[in-house]
Amino acid sequence: MAVSSLQVNIAGVKLNNPLILASGTAGFGEEISRFYPLENVGAIACKGTTLEPRDGNPPPRIAETPSGIINSVGLENPGADRFINDYLPWLNMQKAVVIANIAGSTQEDYCALAEKFNDTAVDMVEMNISCPNVKSGGLAFGTSCQSVAQITRTVRSHCSKPLIVKLSPNVADIAEIAIAAESEGADALTLINTITAMKIDIQTRRPILRNNIGGLSGPAIFPIAVRMVWQTAAKVKIPVIGAGGISSWQDAVEIMLAGAAAFQIGTANFTDIYTPREVLKGLDEYLEANRLKSVNEIVGGVRAW
Ligand SMILES: Cc1cc2nc3c(=O)[nH]c(=O)nc-3n(C[C@H](O)[C@H](O)[C@H](O)COP(=O)(O)O)c2cc1C
Repeated sequence: MAVSSLQVNIAGVKLNNPLILASGTAGFGEEISRFYPLENVGAIACKGTTLEPRDGNPPPRIAETPSGIINSVGLENPGADRFINDYLPWLNMQKAVVIANIAGSTQEDYCALAEKFNDTAVDMVEMNISCPNVKSGGLAFGTSCQSVAQITRTVRSHCSKPLIVKLSPNVADIAEIAIAAESEGADALTLINTITAMKIDIQTRRPILRNNIGGLSGPAIFPIAVRMVWQTAAKVKIPVIGAGGISSWQDAVEIMLAGAAAFQIGTANFTDIYTPREVLKGLDEYLEANRLKSVNEIVGGVRAW
């Protein structure tokens, strides 16, 4: 009999468990719901949504590496209106906690998107200022304290939903970027997004990706995510949502010990669609084996030297 609770609270939103499907790896939930009910996961962060529909970058858009993938999808999505009108009502029927992930080329784009979601049944907004795969905007907003502070302040004033700021690992000091977002009103932080990377075909001498470079995700980046979560959680009071290469329950425990109040699973969904089920089962068993009543008891529990 399960006696431990997996429930967490992120910025006032109650999640049945700390597992969130990472943006861009679960679409809008439809395909995944053919394998398990979406209400089994804590929340779904939907595909990055822009004001207008986008086709994304030309293929090839995925390059495989020994322990991860490099993607340059470039924010292919149906646009905010279609998300709100076609996908959101269905997601609500599934009783999923829904996180809208927003991206834009200008601050005005982000503000307009945040406003669009104000009067919808979206539970939280995750602002992606860390996408390495678009020409303008994206990562450009996420790499200096000044620009992070400014966009967070501006979007905050247009957003009535809990606002999660998703940070880029492509920076020198993640903690100072996190502090900048927190001080301007972020309710939570997600870290990390992908790490800029490249792969070259040695025969053709061409990069595998048509975009030349992309973002590395998967197990290769997990230790970097753990380090960044640990450095950040020690410096901010708002919840940190860990992401980056989590593919087992042991990874989930590890990133929570580093300070993550919840965590996202992305690339591991591609390797095995049932990863979330296995992670939640293992997490539950770990809590019981350690006689812990709540998953919150392990958050930040690392005994650093
Ligand atoms: C194919 C693909 C598409 C992604 N699209 C988005 C996106 O639209 N918005 C976003 O914030 N992050 C996006 N990401 C980043 C993931 O949400 C996540 O932060 C990153 O992949 C690290 O986690 P993982 O190693 O578990 O995949 C994408 C990742 C992949 C692999």
